[in-house]
Amino acid sequence: MLRSAETGQGEGAPAPRSPVVAQAGPYPVEVKAGEKYFWCACGLSVTQPFCDGTHAGTGLKPVIFRAQKDETIWFCGCKATGDKPLCDGSHERVAGDAR
Ligand code: FES
Repeated sequence: MLRSAETGQGEGAPAPRSPVVAQAGPYPVEVKAGEKYFWCACGLSVTQPFCDGTHAGTGLKPVIFRAQKDETIWFCGCKATGDKPLCDGSHERVAGDAR
């Protein structure tokens, strides 16, 4: 078992909430080289797929994505991806939960 010093959580800190499905599929976003994007990990933000600070108190934090070039990035909307913050197809198994 991990102690609080190993997990970064304080004694008695509540366990992080599970993220909620914001959308049962990815969000295509045109990113700009050198820009930082803060991907919403909790699913509660109203500015999906990006953080609006609503995660406060959930124990979850946004994931930073720094664009290497101008391109379209498919940000995960289901919040179940194993390749945060990018879609990895996991939404196929969680799509039923959001319907
Ligand atoms: S939208 Fe989450 S894995 Fe595709």
